[in-house]
Amino acid sequence: MNINKEPVQQPAECLNEIPSLHNAFAGYFPIGTAVNPDVLQSTGSLIARHYNSLTCENHMKPEELQPEEGIFTFDKADSILAFAKRHGMRMRGHTLVWHNQTPDWVFQGRDGNPASREQVLARMKTHIDTVVCRYRGDVYCWDVVNEAINDKEGELLRRSRWLESVGEDYIQKAFEFAHEADPNALLFYNDYHESEPVKRERMYTLVKSLLDRGAPIHGIGLQAHWNIYDPSLDLIKEAIERFASLGLQLHITEMDLPMFKEDDKRRDLTAPSKEMVEQQRLRYEQIFDLFRSYKDVITNVTFWGAADDYTWLDYFPGKERTTWPMLFNHQHEPKPCFWSVINK
Ligand code: GLA
Repeated sequence: MNINKEPVQQPAECLNEIPSLHNAFAGYFPIGTAVNPDVLQSTGSLIARHYNSLTCENHMKPEELQPEEGIFTFDKADSILAFAKRHGMRMRGHTLVWHNQTPDWVFQGRDGNPASREQVLARMKTHIDTVVCRYRGDVYCWDVVNEAINDKEGELLRRSRWLESVGEDYIQKAFEFAHEADPNALLFYNDYHESEPVKRERMYTLVKSLLDRGAPIHGIGLQAHWNIYDPSLDLIKEAIERFASLGLQLHITEMDLPMFKEDDKRRDLTAPSKEMVEQQRLRYEQIFDLFRSYKDVITNVTFWGAADDYTWLDYFPGKERTTWPMLFNHQHEPKPCFWSVINK
């Protein structure tokens, strides 16, 4: 009892009764966010309350975990995992094989020559074994191969150093190595522009060919770097249906809905217009309604950020600007789009 009649200090969440985002989706799918150690410092209480799945934004990528051959640096990834465990969250692993953020040494042989296929495959296996075994039982799924499709006309696969040095079966090998290292981990192929029909069909073709060859693949990651206008709901639905027809589970792995269309590079906006705020509210509502209706196949929805004050989009494609893509604003308060996804 408060006998002194002084106001009792309560955490902000209690005072204004903001429901927890992930609790609102308890009957559907976990709600994740991508993080780094700085974000856990600045935004940890918001993240602990509203999200129940974490992905390392960068700190499980090859260049972070094995910057030099045989030198593994797990400190930052470990600290993120420790946060997840402390708060009873699950952890997605991102990412084992990618053309970006992978050190040059992986592809270098002796005397400045390119490494042989066998050498690159042996390095891939060592990396996957070491990383996946370390996090066995803690990381429940892995984006095994990220963005291997060619976006342009022509061949199916992106011309990457992986493709050049190993050949087309590098993707299958990566899945096999990951499965050997942790037979219980769910293994994903992850890519962007997944709802755009040409890219979608290429992803479908790649994943189907992996399944036909018996590769241990369990899911497709739809990155969902969308915006408040595009892609259309119909295209998103078609992508979900098409990928689900392969009998795999789907994770939404990197979702964000910035206020600008892809070709709108404005930098002078200091606040979104009323129309933009309303459009974002509506889009988030429609998209989450759609996700809910596919809860049997969508088994994780992860945002590529936690609140508007930190998002990679503000620095992409180069110069700083504000894009307001998340459900929480710069002060970590819920935005209209937050209420539109949870008020059901
Ligand atoms: C891709 C990668 C992510 C991240 C984003 C941009 O989508 O999969 O790891 O690098 O680009 O931040």
